[in-house]
Amino acid sequence: MAHQDTGVGQIDSVEEMLLDDQAVAEQVLKVKEERNAVILAHNYQRPEVQDIADITGGSLELSREAAKTDADVIVFCGVHFMAETAHILSPDKIVLLPEMHAGCPLADMAEAGQVARAREENPGAVVVSYVNTTAEVKAVSDYCCTSSNAVHVVRAVEGDRVLFVPDRNLGRYVADRVDKEVILWDGYCSTHDRITVEQVESALEAHPGAEVIAHPECRPEVLAVSDHIHSTSGMADAALRSNAVEFIVATESGMLYPLGKAAPGNSFYSPAEEPLCPTMKLTTLASVLWALQTLEPRITLPEEIRVRALGAVERMLALRPFPPGGEGWDGGGL
Ligand code: 13P
Repeated sequence: MAHQDTGVGQIDSVEEMLLDDQAVAEQVLKVKEERNAVILAHNYQRPEVQDIADITGGSLELSREAAKTDADVIVFCGVHFMAETAHILSPDKIVLLPEMHAGCPLADMAEAGQVARAREENPGAVVVSYVNTTAEVKAVSDYCCTSSNAVHVVRAVEGDRVLFVPDRNLGRYVADRVDKEVILWDGYCSTHDRITVEQVESALEAHPGAEVIAHPECRPEVLAVSDHIHSTSGMADAALRSNAVEFIVATESGMLYPLGKAAPGNSFYSPAEEPLCPTMKLTTLASVLWALQTLEPRITLPEEIRVRALGAVERMLALRPFPPGGEGWDGGGL
């Protein structure tokens, strides 16, 4: 194919581009060994980034697994709050977020000052914060939760009023399944909130017989037409347990890659308009390599915030009955 000669670093073919990716991946693995690093990749990351990771999965489980390793360095291929969580759980390891601008718009919809005020306005309400929050928000919360255990956590905490921060869709999903008053924060994940019933139905028309798996950050009307509702780490099990062979997956489209690997006999499709999280896609093999070489950008927190945020995570872990499989647990990792 003809191309314009733009000079240095020109790539002439797809094969050359792939080789280049492969060369960068080899470098990443070499520098990773030298640094005694562990690479984590969230399920929404680009396939080539998931492929070089030591551990892939959902947000909190990655940080918990990394804390168990003897690595000196954690490279978190994900978004900012996830790297903060890794630092909360592993304060003695260096935590790197290869793309400093990889934020989570949902996490940014709640600020610690606002949550502290809402707590004052709702005396007696227990504050449960989704893991998709800043460390400062976790530090002013009673409990943390994940999308796999949110129902369980809200059921298990003391009291009958809960302030649920920041995702209104996950909060509504929880409220419908517990016997408590749940006060909703008005936050949302724009990637999930944009998914419509029409987009799901249009994908179903193209794949009649498919079942719908949705993340609980989707709107209630999308959840209402779904066969399975799961955190990202609970989705593969749901597909493997089902008799269906085709699935419409209402979550960020990066999820199709790990699902395809976990259940190769099945086919997975996005709703009609592909849900893409722009910040999840910022991290590339090149940025991972740069982070490992320079040990930057590092994520740290003031110790006082870290310890208070850790308290919210530890109180969540102490709730009984805990191990996964308890009532209100979707089967996913933590
Ligand atoms: P999971 O905890 O299900 O991986 O969700 C993370 C997330 O950010 C969903 O948007």
